Amino acid sequence: MDQKLISNWSNIKSVPENYIFPLESRPGDLKIPTSNSIPIIDLNEAQKDDSDRANTIHQIIKAAQEFGFFQVINHGILENEMKETMSVFKEVFQMSDEYKQKLYLDDDLKTCKRFTSSLRYETENVHLWRDSLRHPAHPLEDWQHLWPENPTEYRECVGNFSVKIKELGSRIMDLISEGLGLKCGYFDNDLTGSLIISINHYPPCPEPSLTLGLSKHKDPYLITILMQDGVSGLQVLKDGKWITVEPLPHAFVINIGHLLEIISKGKLKSAEHRAVTNSSQTRTSAAFFIAPSDDCLIEPAQDLTHYENNQPILRSFKYKEFLKNFFDTLGDTDLILKSFEPPKN
Ligand code: OGA
Ligand code: NI
Repeated sequence: MDQKLISNWSNIKSVPENYIFPLESRPGDLKIPTSNSIPIIDLNEAQKDDSDRANTIHQIIKAAQEFGFFQVINHGILENEMKETMSVFKEVFQMSDEYKQKLYLDDDLKTCKRFTSSLRYETENVHLWRDSLRHPAHPLEDWQHLWPENPTEYRECVGNFSVKIKELGSRIMDLISEGLGLKCGYFDNDLTGSLIISINHYPPCPEPSLTLGLSKHKDPYLITILMQDGVSGLQVLKDGKWITVEPLPHAFVINIGHLLEIISKGKLKSAEHRAVTNSSQTRTSAAFFIAPSDDCLIEPAQDLTHYENNQPILRSFKYKEFLKNFFDTLGDTDLILKSFEPPKN
C-alpha cells in the first residue's frame, strides 16, 4: 500500500502512465483565471435584525440555486484556529513513511483511513494525484480515540475545531431550511447526524495538464464546508464551463451536496467540481462533510410542493446505500441515480 502514497515518492520527473487521464477528462486550459463570481456571504449579517437575516437567507438560496457554491466570511471561527488546524493537517502528510503506513487501519468506511487516490484504488482506471486522510468526527467521543496520535496535538486541535465546524454547519442548515420554507429544525436530526473530515493532500505534479487531484463529482452529502490553504486548485462546473474558486483568507467554501439537491426536489443545485494539480506548490484542503447517520432514510421533502430543474423522481433510499453507490461508481452522477429509480410496473 505505502509505496503508492504520492507524498512518499521522491524526485518524480514525469507522470506514471496510470495517472494520465484520457484526453476528454484532462484539465484542459490550466490558466483559467480565478473567479470572484462565486458569491461571498457575510454570516454576521444573519445575526443582526430580522431583515438582515432574511437578506442573508435570500443570498444563500440564490447562490445555492445559481452556483451550488458560495464562500462564507465572518462565520465566527477565529483565523488562528483555522491556521493552526490547517498546519496540523499538513503535518500528518509530513510524518515518516512508517507512521503513515500504520495509520491505514481497515476497509470499513467508518474508521480512520489514510489512502491515496480514491477509496476504490484497485478498480479505478486512472489514479488521482492526491493522498487523503478521512475519518468521522461526530459525535466526538465515538471517534476521537481512533484518530491519528501524531502530530501530538492532532486529536485535541482537530476535536475542538470539528465541534465549531459542526455548529457552523447547523447554523447554515437552519438558514437553508428557513429559505426553503421548511419547518424550523427540519435538518436537525439524523439527516445531519454525522460529520466526516476528509483531508486532501495534493503534492506538486510534474505534468498538471495530464492529471487530476479529484475528478468531476458531486459530494454525496448535505453540505460541505471546505477549508483551502491559499493555493488554488478547486474548480466548479457552471453552465458547461470550469471556474476556479479563489482561495480567500479566513473564508470557508460551502457547497450543496447531492443529497440536499434530492431532498430539496432540485430547488438547490449540487454543482459538479474537481481539483486540478500544479507543478510548484503542495496544496492541502480539508473537507468537512455534514452527512446523515448511516441508517437515515433519504427522500424528497414532502413539504415542498413541486420538483424543479428536471429533478428525477427517485424511490426513498438509505444514505448508506447511496454512499456505497457513490464509491462503487467512482462518483458517476448518472450511474448513482440509476439505482434509485423507482421500480417500473
Ligand atoms: C472533496 C473536494 C475539493 C478540493 O473533497 O470532495 O471536492 O479543493 N475537494 O480539495
Ligand atoms: Ni467534492
